[in-house]
Amino acid sequence: MADQPAPEPGFRVDALIAEDIEAYLEQHQHKSLLRFITCGSVDDGKSTLIGRLLYDSKMIFEDQLSALESDSAKHGTQGEEIDFALLVDGLAAEREQGITIDVAYRFFTTEKRKFIVADTPGHEQYTRNMVTGASTADLAVILVDARKGVLKQTRRHSYLVHLLGIKHLVLAVNKMDLVDYDQEVFDKIVADYGEFAEEVGIEDFVAIPISGFKGDNITASPAETTPWYDGPSLIDHLETVELANAAAQERPFRMAVQWVNRPNLDFRGFAGLIACGTIKPGDPVRIVPAGKTSTVKSVTTFDGDLDEAVAGQSVTLTLEDEVDCSRGDVIAAAGDPPEASDQFEATIVWMSEEALKPGRGYWLKLGTQMVTATVQPPKYEVDVNSFEHLAAKTLDLNAIGVAEIATDRPITFEPYDQSRQLGGFILIDKFTNATVGAGMLHFSLRRAQNVHWQPTTITRDDHATLKNQRPRVLWFTGLSGSGKSTIANEVEKQLALMNRHTFLLDGDNVRHGLNKDLGFTETDRIENIRRIGEVAKLMADAGLIVLTAFISPFRAERQMVRKMLPEGEFIEIFVDTPLEVAEQRDVKGLYKKARSGELKNFTGIDSPYEMPENAEIVVNTVDMTPVEAAEYIVKQILPLK
Ligand code: ADX
Repeated sequence: MADQPAPEPGFRVDALIAEDIEAYLEQHQHKSLLRFITCGSVDDGKSTLIGRLLYDSKMIFEDQLSALESDSAKHGTQGEEIDFALLVDGLAAEREQGITIDVAYRFFTTEKRKFIVADTPGHEQYTRNMVTGASTADLAVILVDARKGVLKQTRRHSYLVHLLGIKHLVLAVNKMDLVDYDQEVFDKIVADYGEFAEEVGIEDFVAIPISGFKGDNITASPAETTPWYDGPSLIDHLETVELANAAAQERPFRMAVQWVNRPNLDFRGFAGLIACGTIKPGDPVRIVPAGKTSTVKSVTTFDGDLDEAVAGQSVTLTLEDEVDCSRGDVIAAAGDPPEASDQFEATIVWMSEEALKPGRGYWLKLGTQMVTATVQPPKYEVDVNSFEHLAAKTLDLNAIGVAEIATDRPITFEPYDQSRQLGGFILIDKFTNATVGAGMLHFSLRRAQNVHWQPTTITRDDHATLKNQRPRVLWFTGLSGSGKSTIANEVEKQLALMNRHTFLLDGDNVRHGLNKDLGFTETDRIENIRRIGEVAKLMADAGLIVLTAFISPFRAERQMVRKMLPEGEFIEIFVDTPLEVAEQRDVKGLYKKARSGELKNFTGIDSPYEMPENAEIVVNTVDMTPVEAAEYIVKQILPLK
């Protein structure tokens, strides 16, 4: 089906982890939770290290996870064993959207803390997997083989986790047993890494010499083998690293409402994860975007009411007043609400085999907000090995670039470096529902604030009334040589004879003027149709019946123009002449050139044509003459007054 309504989205990956796992764990056990990611390859000893962590921490899950056990028995796929996949079951929604998440989440606890470790395989789709795993992590363990030192992939992984805003980095220099626990080797690697860290802006990291295989400095430190080391063991560090994000707490309060909690008529709470700031009863708040204000009555968690809650906590707020507030709204400090904007600069990580199509409309999901967004051709792409900025027209699988984004409605946001919840987003293909990209908002473009909509006195309805007709856009689509222009021309003639006010926009003609700068690449065709759509809309606003004759090969852009117009005013007319017929006629001799390879990107030959699935009218030039086709069309549209 063409353009379905926005899928009632699963959640974005962080929200999932935050909501499902965290809520689950919170319910069962009141220890703080550290989410971390391990980066490195099997060769670096990653599996051994994770196995060692799980083993040494003695994984106490029997009590806490009894519920999970019974769930596993019911739904699990692992027979008698606990199915940890159930923990990340919410990810199913993401999977349905087509993203293959090659990330294994493992859960373990120690006396002091609970942990979820995301293990991302390092094969060629590493970027996508790492972004998925790292988007929820508080800390990253970068594994280095002591014999090999800092490698290209060490730098790449570190760069990515830094880009994704992970503040805590551990450089785990592994396999120390294989270099005789030599301090010099360790120091050299730390110095090398320090140099690189400075280069990419990593502020801090903790280096630990370990042996995952022998267990040195994993749970206790210093190991007998490394008397020269005076830092914490890996587990010590993971257990004690300060999680409170001081910077986020300094920011004004913001919480996106995940759901409205209404167990009975007397209680109406707004549940969510505090993105930044602090909140306590009595604080004045504003509901964004609506703008209504109220005062916080209570701050509730699983543990009961709190005097104060801070960034990173999941809470339910009740307010003094009955205000309209639902999923997707943001509750913010009354005096300092977040910005809303519809134009941004952002970093985008592309996750789809099919490259980014600049100009194409994608769903952009930020927290609970969902809008349509178009991405401009990237300003640059980042080479993840050299960190150089490269020129780019699009982004391919795993590519990272910086581009401007425009949304069809303003969204409430915070820059990603201030809030991962309110600044991180995913892009979803409108037809396949696959998650195709993830991104981080940098800032809103100033022009978004400075360009306002100017209301005019003579309205669209006035224009139409003066012309005594209902505006329409008759959108002809079909292969080159299918007969679009000929039929459209004939339809216009017939309408003119009936005193209708019309205007015909024809592909070849418009390409001599307005769209002279455009060629036939996908990006250019998308821009071609976007401009024609805007022009057709203006003309329809002026009260005209507009006829357009463009191949307009892509469903997404035809759908986009349909959406730009009031319901019922866009009439898609498919000129369904088969390729063989158009090619045989070859009026302009272009098919011949395309077949010989002289002309590239020719529709139907080496560039796709996506047939309409729900065109209002279908005609062809095989069973009918252009005049007959035109008469048929006019007959169909006239009763539509
Ligand atoms: S569209 O794909 O962007 O909608 P448009 O309708 O504007 O195309 O232009 C199509 C016309 O340009 C064709 O009728 C043909 O005369 C000419 N043309 C030149 N090169 C190509 C090409 N590579 N593919 C299709 N049409 C081409």
